[in-house]
Amino acid sequence: MPHDLRAARAQEPVVRSARTASPVDLPERPRFITDLDVLRARRTLKWQIGPDTPDRICLGVAEMDLYPPEFLRSALVEAVGLGETGYGLPEGQEEACGRYLSAHHDADVAGLRCTTDVLTGLRTLMRSGLAPGSPVIVETPVYGDLFTVVREAGLEPVAVPLLRTGAQWQHDWAALATAARDGARGWIVCQPHNPVGRAWTLPEMSQAIAVCREHDLLLLANEVHIPLGMPGRAMPSAFADGAIHGVRAFGLTSASKAFNIPGLKSATVYGSERSAAALADLPQSLLGRPGSLGAVATAACYGPAGVAWLRTLREELAERVRLVLDELASLPVRVSATAPEATYLVWAEVDGEQDARRFAAALDTSGIHVLVGESFGGTAFDRCFRINAASHPAVLRTAFARLRAALR
Ligand SMILES: Cc1ncc(COP(=O)(O)O)c(C=O)c1O
Repeated sequence: MPHDLRAARAQEPVVRSARTASPVDLPERPRFITDLDVLRARRTLKWQIGPDTPDRICLGVAEMDLYPPEFLRSALVEAVGLGETGYGLPEGQEEACGRYLSAHHDADVAGLRCTTDVLTGLRTLMRSGLAPGSPVIVETPVYGDLFTVVREAGLEPVAVPLLRTGAQWQHDWAALATAARDGARGWIVCQPHNPVGRAWTLPEMSQAIAVCREHDLLLLANEVHIPLGMPGRAMPSAFADGAIHGVRAFGLTSASKAFNIPGLKSATVYGSERSAAALADLPQSLLGRPGSLGAVATAACYGPAGVAWLRTLREELAERVRLVLDELASLPVRVSATAPEATYLVWAEVDGEQDARRFAAALDTSGIHVLVGESFGGTAFDRCFRINAASHPAVLRTAFARLRAALR
């Protein structure tokens, strides 16, 4: 990072809005970064991946362009100040996560354990719960690393495309039943589904669980984005409502996405009653142990200050998503995009081969990084893109102005 940028950064105001919090204080608003040079100097994946150009704008990897909220910053500063940079203790994180899931997602979970991240937890849970080579259902389009992690666990991913009916994405119940009859042994259900942003309703979740019960599938509920429902949207966990009773099921979540702390490497796994003993038997070395900063941060995120901040964040993300959808609609190529019910990710499909090529070329020439559709399940998605809306409106508008100019 250039020296002058470090100096500029050092002078950035650190908002201490938690101050002496009183009950009448408004919750702290999320602070998005506007300065593109500060963003481009960030030593995290989102802004270092993509075009190697000095004017790049990165809207790809699922990180948010945020400063940390004060409750989180102060928890981390305190821990670092005390030299608490050792091995994390699970209890605080597990308890906070269980309380959060129960209070906000109606979940009744058993056997909570810590892990370093969702993918590590998923790999370990699948390897321990399924015979080598077992087929595992992954619905597409989907976050591509899920295919990788299934293979890394020595299993076989089976792609079952989601159905698009009008503006809505649905499970393809018939195709799922066929995959189960053809030998699938597990199913990764993402609540909400990345990248299309579907938040499965309680009846849909109950039906998914019924499929697992009928075919004795191991349900792997990937709930990493579950805190990020659009305002007013219910986000039932797979462990809500007791439907999971008697089914082999593991769940996974993390504060990583909603609180922008994937770098702190801390996630939580849990199970149905039937799977709790299997969870208890897993050696910590296979799950990985979060660092102390990850465990401290996670407990803080799931506490009252975190939940209050999250509410304001979700309101802002809804606005950003709306902005991206409006910008997409105003481009001189036809782009179909469904408003996500959760997450800050917008899945867009360009109509027509020729316009898709024009769009891809315009992204290149304007130095804008988004994730290309193919990585979400193959060539069927090669006219699709995933755009991360968790940026300041000024950053998003600059990106779209450039894109529009490149498309002329
Ligand atoms: C659906 C899904 N699962 C898993 C992950 C990865 O989570 P983690 O960083 O905790 O491994 C992501 C990250 O974006 C994701 O979108």
